[in-house]
Amino acid sequence: MNYFNYKNDELYCEEVPVEKIAQEVGTPFYLYSNRTLTRHFDVFSGAFAAVPHLICFAVKANSNISILKIYAKRGGGADIVSGGELYRALKAGIDPSRIVYSGVGKRDDEIDFALKTGILLFNIESLQELEVINERAGRLGLKAGIGIRINPDINPKTHPHISTGLKENKFGIDVASSVRAYRYAQEMKHIDIKGLSCHIGSQITEISPFREAVQKLSEIVGLLKRDGIEIRYLDFGGGLGIPYDDEEPPPPSEYAEAIIGAAGDIACTFIFEPGRVLAGNGGILVTRVLYTKKNQGKNFLVVDAGMNDLLRPSLYGAFHRFQPVRLTPKEEITADVVGPICESGDFFARGRRMPSLARGDLLAVMSAGAYGFSMSSNYNSRPRIPEVLVCDESWHLIRERESYEDLVRGESIPGCLEKV
Ligand code: LLP
Repeated sequence: MNYFNYKNDELYCEEVPVEKIAQEVGTPFYLYSNRTLTRHFDVFSGAFAAVPHLICFAVKANSNISILKIYAKRGGGADIVSGGELYRALKAGIDPSRIVYSGVGKRDDEIDFALKTGILLFNIESLQELEVINERAGRLGLKAGIGIRINPDINPKTHPHISTGLKENKFGIDVASSVRAYRYAQEMKHIDIKGLSCHIGSQITEISPFREAVQKLSEIVGLLKRDGIEIRYLDFGGGLGIPYDDEEPPPPSEYAEAIIGAAGDIACTFIFEPGRVLAGNGGILVTRVLYTKKNQGKNFLVVDAGMNDLLRPSLYGAFHRFQPVRLTPKEEITADVVGPICESGDFFARGRRMPSLARGDLLAVMSAGAYGFSMSSNYNSRPRIPEVLVCDESWHLIRERESYEDLVRGESIPGCLEKV
C-alpha cells in the first residue's frame, strides 16, 4: 500500500497534486511520500515485535538525509558500506550504536572513522579485514565490535547481479571457515565478538532462501556456543522484494514468521538491513514527455529523464510501472519509453502497452524510491535531479537540482594547458 493515488483523474502524492510540484520544481524529479515510508517501516518493525530487534536501513537504497531521518525518528539504525554513508547517517542523527558496517572493501580511513564514531559492529568479510580492523583499533586504543558475514551458498532466485550469497560471489566467509575465523577473532586483543551475519541477495520474492539462511546461521551459533563464543546479534541482512509488476513477495508478517520460526529459541537481538522493502514503493520519478516519434512503424516516447537518473531498467532490465499524472481517455499504443542519453541502453521500457501520451504530458515512473536517486550520475553532463518529500499537505525540496556550476565543481585547468 502506498500514498500515490488518483483524485479526480489527477495523480496525488498524499494530499498534494504531483502536477503542482512539477510546475514549481520543473522536471524530472524524485518524489517521496513520508506516509508511505513511515508506514513501511512500522509494518516491518511491527512484524518483529515479539523479538528484540534492530532495523538498520540499507543506506545505499536511498541516502538522502531526510529519508534517513524518517527512519532515525522511529528508532531505526543504518547499514552502511562506506565512510560517505556513515557521514550521511550521522548527519541524519542516527545513533552510532545502531549502525552496522558491511562491505568487502573497507578502507583504513573508513575503518578509523567508524571506530572513532563507535558504531555497533563491523560485518567482517575476510580474515585479512579482521586483522586490519584489529590493528587499526589497537592504534586508536579501542575495541572493535564485529560480526562475521558468512557466505551460506544459497540461491536467492533473483537477478544474478543482485545475488550475493552464492559461493561464486565475492561476499562473506564460507561456512566451513567461519568457526575458525571466530576462534582467530577470539584471540585478538582489540576485537569484541558480537554478531553473526549474512545477506543473500536482493529483490527476493520467495521465503525458502531466507529460511535456509537462518537455519545455517542458527547451526553456526550452536557450534560457536560449544566453543564458548557467545553471539549477541544475529544479522539477517536485507533482500525482501517488492511488487514492481506482478511479483507477489511475502509480506513482512510472513517473512518474520519464517525467520522467527527457523531461528528457534536463540536469545539474540535480531538485526535486519532492509532497503528496497522500506523505500522502494515510497518514491516515484516524475518525468515529462519531450517528443513522440515513430521509426519504421515503432513508437518512441522520448522523456526528459534518462538512465543517469534511474539506471535500473538499463542495468538489470528491471521493470517499473508507469502512471500518467493526468488520466485522460487516450488510445493505447505499444511504445519504447526512452531518455535523452546517447546510448541505446537508455530506456525505461521496451514494447510497453500504454496510453499514447503527447509532448508535455507528465509521466510517473513508479517504485523508484530505492536504488533510484542513489544510483544516479552526471553522465552526459546532466545535473542530478531534485528530490521532493511530501508530508500530508506540504511538500519540501530535500535536494536541489544541481546547476551547471555544480557539474564542474572541483575541476580546474592546470597552467601547462593554458600555455600556447
Ligand atoms: N545489506 C547488504 C549487505 C546489502 O548488500 C544490501 C543490498 C542490503 C542489505 C539491502 O538489500 P535490499 O533490502 O534493498 O534488497 N542496485 C540493485 C540492488 C543492489 C542491492 C545491493 N545490496 C537494484 O537496483 O536492484
